[in-house]
Amino acid sequence: MATENRIYIFDTTLRDGEQVPGCGLTKKEKVRLAQALEDLGVDIIEAGFPISSPGDFEAVKSVAEVIRNSSVCALSRAVEQDIVTAARAIENAVRPRIHTGIGTSDQHVFTKLRTTRDRILEKAHFCVSTAKKYVDDVEFYAEDAGRTENSFLAQVIQEAVNAGATVVNIPDTTGYCLPSEYGQKIKYLIDHVKGIENVIISTHCHNDLGLSTANSVEAIQQGARQVECTINGIGERAGNTSLEEVVMILKKHNWLNYTTGIHTEKLYSMSRLISETMNMPVQPNKAIVGANAFAHSSGIHQDGVIKNRDNYEIIDPAEVGVNKSSIILTARSGRAALNFRLGQLGIQLARPELESAYEEFLAVADQVSVVEDEHLQEIVAKLQDVA
Ligand code: KIV
Ligand code: ZN
Repeated sequence: MATENRIYIFDTTLRDGEQVPGCGLTKKEKVRLAQALEDLGVDIIEAGFPISSPGDFEAVKSVAEVIRNSSVCALSRAVEQDIVTAARAIENAVRPRIHTGIGTSDQHVFTKLRTTRDRILEKAHFCVSTAKKYVDDVEFYAEDAGRTENSFLAQVIQEAVNAGATVVNIPDTTGYCLPSEYGQKIKYLIDHVKGIENVIISTHCHNDLGLSTANSVEAIQQGARQVECTINGIGERAGNTSLEEVVMILKKHNWLNYTTGIHTEKLYSMSRLISETMNMPVQPNKAIVGANAFAHSSGIHQDGVIKNRDNYEIIDPAEVGVNKSSIILTARSGRAALNFRLGQLGIQLARPELESAYEEFLAVADQVSVVEDEHLQEIVAKLQDVA
């Protein structure tokens, strides 16, 4: 376990994220997104799974050729040909990493792989030592670690560490674990695997029960120092841990003393770039980057925000690259919000006029879902005609 509090951000948008139907990327798109991820400050970019197709091999190779600061990682199964192909794809990277591994839960061992636990232990050693012939930086994954019995998981991870893994990834592949359970798993490994203090423990959480971010943060608190995540949380099924959520949790809870290399003011534009390139809309209420993340629409909240933003905002929108928070005028808005917006339009109304404008405003608001500036101009013009 690394003792310092720097948390390494491993982005797998281009690999686990790209596995989502309809999110496939061309070589050119992968390179462009990889450059943007590097600019964002991601430590490791998982660029793809080179054995999966000739197109992905070429895409990973091109990413490896242009990225200078981030590590470029290629995925492989615990199969010699996969590992050799991954190594070839990243041979020109400045910081190459191979990510290799095998399933470890009883479900995977007996039902998917139809093998034995002893064979899994051999394979864990084999895949890491094989990858070590090509690169120094080898990450081992224990697929479905979330549902793997801790004592067997520790034996598997021990094999990977003995074979020279630099990072051990403990995926909650099916998004099953509770935060306490996942955190205890990390702690168990720290207490039971010899030499684990010399390697980085990584989290890789899926969001099937909506717990991927909570699980990742709990794992960090128990000693993990790398988080695998994707922009907007995209990924298989319900997705992966969302990069922007983990990064902002660590930033906002700075008393925990964790740091990342992410330039948070680029998060919003990165989110939009991924959404547009991968045809994957961002839900409006998505934490940090959703369209409503900094929009206030109810009267009570609007009044509070107008008095002092901190009343209802824990993040300054500029911190994540959003221009400013917005006050959305709806039938739930109050006089304070109406007056505030009129003021922004350069319109000052005395108290009785404001009352009349508010009545008219509510009549309009009940008809349309959002009252726009043009509606306000019309309301004010109508008042002036009457006067
Ligand atoms: O979810 C998972 O277990 C994975 C591994 C291949 C790392 O994506
Ligand atoms: Zn995954």
